[in-house]
Amino acid sequence: MILSIESSCDDSSIAITEISTKKLIYHKKISQELEHSQYGGVVPELASRLHALALPAILNECSPWFLYLKAIAVTNEPGLGVTLIEGVTMAKALSIALSLPILPINHLKGHIYSLFIEREAILPITVLLVSGGHTQLIEVHSYNQMETVATTMDDSYGESFDKVAKMMALGYPGGPLIENLAQDGDPSRFPFTVPLWQSPLIAFSYSGLKNQVRLAVEAHGEDAYADIAAAFQKTATEHLTQKLKKYFKSHPPLRFAIVGGASANLYLRERVNELLLPYRADLFLSDLKYCSDNAAMIGRAALEAFHLHQSVYHKDIAINPRCKL
Ligand code: KG4
Ligand code: ZN
Repeated sequence: MILSIESSCDDSSIAITEISTKKLIYHKKISQELEHSQYGGVVPELASRLHALALPAILNECSPWFLYLKAIAVTNEPGLGVTLIEGVTMAKALSIALSLPILPINHLKGHIYSLFIEREAILPITVLLVSGGHTQLIEVHSYNQMETVATTMDDSYGESFDKVAKMMALGYPGGPLIENLAQDGDPSRFPFTVPLWQSPLIAFSYSGLKNQVRLAVEAHGEDAYADIAAAFQKTATEHLTQKLKKYFKSHPPLRFAIVGGASANLYLRERVNELLLPYRADLFLSDLKYCSDNAAMIGRAALEAFHLHQSVYHKDIAINPRCKL
């Protein structure tokens, strides 16, 4: 079995995955959303201290499986430096105490492999990764061969929901709050400009849209929040689908997936589903409980790393907060 640890942002999570069956044996996650909510975003030092409390509490429940472990997997990149170190330190301690190798796992690969926690891996696949830290279009050929074909020039899709929620003092994380609020709104009241709509670039950008929303919030106040949320969600998503449409012209999709925390957004799922219809490409999604950060996806990615002999000694593990894929 492999014990996996995730602490790249504001979720403390540990999982145990059986190597021969790929079965998830144990999984627990303690989210810090409530603690960060009053600040409208993640406070890194607070997140780090909360991981230091939560991770040992979860690990206590895992001791019955210690005897069966072959490796300790841990997210070592990308993420917040002060929170990654909590998981990596625990992995190092376990590695020394139990004489086990460490499998360093890239968080983004974890999100991609969240697709295969409950089904067989199907590759190649084109993946849209939308989270709080990233907005990327990725051609996934294999675990070792992933090519980022488009990325964001500034904010990410999920982050823009967080920032809009903060402008409206709704709390954190903003994604589900804005999606909910948008259900009661009229998206046509605020005709926001779709980012980069005239640009031939296949890239993403959310800073301009964020400013349009800020001006609307300031000018119209609380009564207009539902309409602003609906118009924002529509425009932010249209930006993604416009760029996907452009990309598909030269790279028609065979299979397509959306992963990451913001892939839970139902409006986004519906729009991408429509876009895929003419290509007859299937849309793959992770189960909702595996969209946001979790150690089950790190454990699933670690199975690939294990078979590829990518383990390292505890003294050789590096933390790369800004690394991509
Ligand atoms: O993958 P994740 O848990 O953490 C990172 O790796 O960043 O993603 C968290 C992000 C947050 O920005 C959150 O607001 C966004 O995912 N999110 C959503 C929704 N649920 C979560 N964004 C839009 N709509 C949602 N329903
Ligand atoms: Zn994530």
